[in-house]
Amino acid sequence: MTSLAVFFLLLLTLASKDLAGAQQQVVCQYSTISASDQSTIWLSPSSRFAFGFFQEGSGFKVGIWLVDNSNDTIVWTATRDDAAVSSNAILQFTSGRIMLASPGNENRFITPEQNEQPKCPSMLDSGNLVIYNEQDQVIWRSFDFPTDTILEDQFLHHDHRLYSNLSSTNHSTGRYSLVAQSDGNLVAYPAKAGDTVESAYWSSDTDMSTPPRSLSTN
Ligand SMILES: *[C@@H]1O[C@H](CO)[C@@H](O)[C@H](O)[C@H]1NC(C)=O
Ligand SMILES: *[C@@H]1O[C@H](CO)[C@@H](O)[C@H](O)[C@H]1NC(C)=O
Ligand SMILES: *[C@@H]1O[C@H](CO)[C@@H](O)[C@H](O)[C@H]1NC(C)=O
Repeated sequence: MTSLAVFFLLLLTLASKDLAGAQQQVVCQYSTISASDQSTIWLSPSSRFAFGFFQEGSGFKVGIWLVDNSNDTIVWTATRDDAAVSSNAILQFTSGRIMLASPGNENRFITPEQNEQPKCPSMLDSGNLVIYNEQDQVIWRSFDFPTDTILEDQFLHHDHRLYSNLSSTNHSTGRYSLVAQSDGNLVAYPAKAGDTVESAYWSSDTDMSTPPRSLSTN
């Protein structure tokens, strides 16, 4: 009887140790995303948006897309001007950062180093990929680094800009930029021309003495 009681106590202790360990470590709901396995993408709760690898040419890029069966719309591309990677590439959340590993290349990081312990990244239904700290404060979000698209609830802060993608099949930096100028104007320029009045080809004509903080699609 006594030995049985001791046995159970031991099991319980082991089990609770396991739990404590799991809470201290950052354990992602999903661990590794593989370019070769679409079932490993990180979906938002309602499956509206996904984060992972998408095909570009014969390789893969990392990004976020609006899920639409065979016609996904890419809304954000990580390190968009880096060469596409092969189907052996993987993404991992490690030491607080999302790391891209592909054979033959040095590991690259999609998100920056954090000075505080983050939780796992969350792919939200807004299309925002967010990293929280232990206190559930946002410490990084893709919405702060738009590439060619802003989504509902996303802001283009003044002096920040979007660059079009090169084409619908190549999400590298393209030929046009759209900047939320601090004078209150939203202005489109050819990306290479520099921001001169002569080169601007579209403007919202919204000069204001008190410039708005940002552009949003709301
Ligand atoms: C996309 O465009 C860039 C810049 O011109 C080029 O280096 C890259 O090879 C292109 N990618 C694909 C998949 O065509
Ligand atoms: C895919 O989406 C684009 C833009 O959202 C649309 O113009 C096009 O018709 C769609 N294609 C198919 C096959 O649904
Ligand atoms: C950029 O990519 C998006 C999504 O794939 C596409 O809808 C859009 O037409 C592309 N832009 C250009 C300039 O090709």
